[in-house]
Amino acid sequence: MKKEIYLTGITTTGTPHIGNYVGAIRPGIQASMDRTKDNFYFLADLHALAKAGNPERIVKSTLEISAAWLALGLDINNAYFYRQSDIHEIPELTWILTSMTAKGLMNRAHSYKAQVHNNIESGAQDNDKGINMALYSYPILMAADILMFKSTHVPVGKDQKQHIEMTRDIAQRFNHKYGNILVVPEAVINEDTATLSGLDGRKMSKSYDNVIPLFTDEKKLKKLIMKIKTNSLEPGITKDTDDSILYDVYQAFSSPEETENVKNLYAQGIAWGEMKKILYECINDQLKPARESYQRLIANPKKIEDELKKGAEKAREISVPYMEEIRNAVGIRRLN
Ligand code: TRP
Repeated sequence: MKKEIYLTGITTTGTPHIGNYVGAIRPGIQASMDRTKDNFYFLADLHALAKAGNPERIVKSTLEISAAWLALGLDINNAYFYRQSDIHEIPELTWILTSMTAKGLMNRAHSYKAQVHNNIESGAQDNDKGINMALYSYPILMAADILMFKSTHVPVGKDQKQHIEMTRDIAQRFNHKYGNILVVPEAVINEDTATLSGLDGRKMSKSYDNVIPLFTDEKKLKKLIMKIKTNSLEPGITKDTDDSILYDVYQAFSSPEETENVKNLYAQGIAWGEMKKILYECINDQLKPARESYQRLIANPKKIEDELKKGAEKAREISVPYMEEIRNAVGIRRLN
């Protein structure tokens, strides 16, 4: 049987937080050790541009996200780890795919439609106000990321599912016209990876300003955990685990047995301050060793740059000849 190829992209727009860790980084690192599959991980810095970020922010995020994955033990000997913009074939493939993507398909993209909807709601003169072409054709760049490495499986959150369907659509259209050249991928939506709650109980997300940065120092970690919202039940009163952010976060960092123990503590009426201490110890113990390597890596960007360069070289062993084949198929080729 052919090896399955998994591909994961991370947009370089922010500092990794514990929600990213639980939802994507931890399972991704686990997968990187599986030698029965090929795994690709990349920093989607070209996608970050679509969000019109500030340049320093993109660079900083690239450094932080790379350092986080490396510090947490991504198996880079087994996996491919690179920066999107180092693979020059990706923007080239994007253009070729753009040439065969129906505009109507992009009109239907949820993220684009949501922005148009916001404009209409807010009574803007122009429905497309604030929407650049990169945002509009974001799904095509994403298709190029995926198709460039013949990915068979793409693990994503539900919000990205439509993008994978669009990728399939574009690949099939290409193959219909030019022969069976692109691999049609599948989305892998993991329903049981936790979406972590943030400090206020909404999904942990930079846009809600409720995150706990993954490698914040011990003092700040403690402070943020103290800020997690609870109800006002006194110590000694039985507490419900169902609507407890502390419990949800604890569960994401613990074994089923540990979680069961904490459940008993809730039944016995543990004080919230006590539970916060337990949660702090639990998270800190797990992250402490990686935090130290993270800090060393952040202080040595050259080491990360070298890894990304090496990763790009390895990835381009695939993308360069494949791009040649694709170019050839569409009629961009030498005359003799
Ligand atoms: N758009 C994805 C996100 O915002 C990131 C991404 C870019 C991606 N290219 C990808 C994910 C290719 C999977 C495959 O989360």
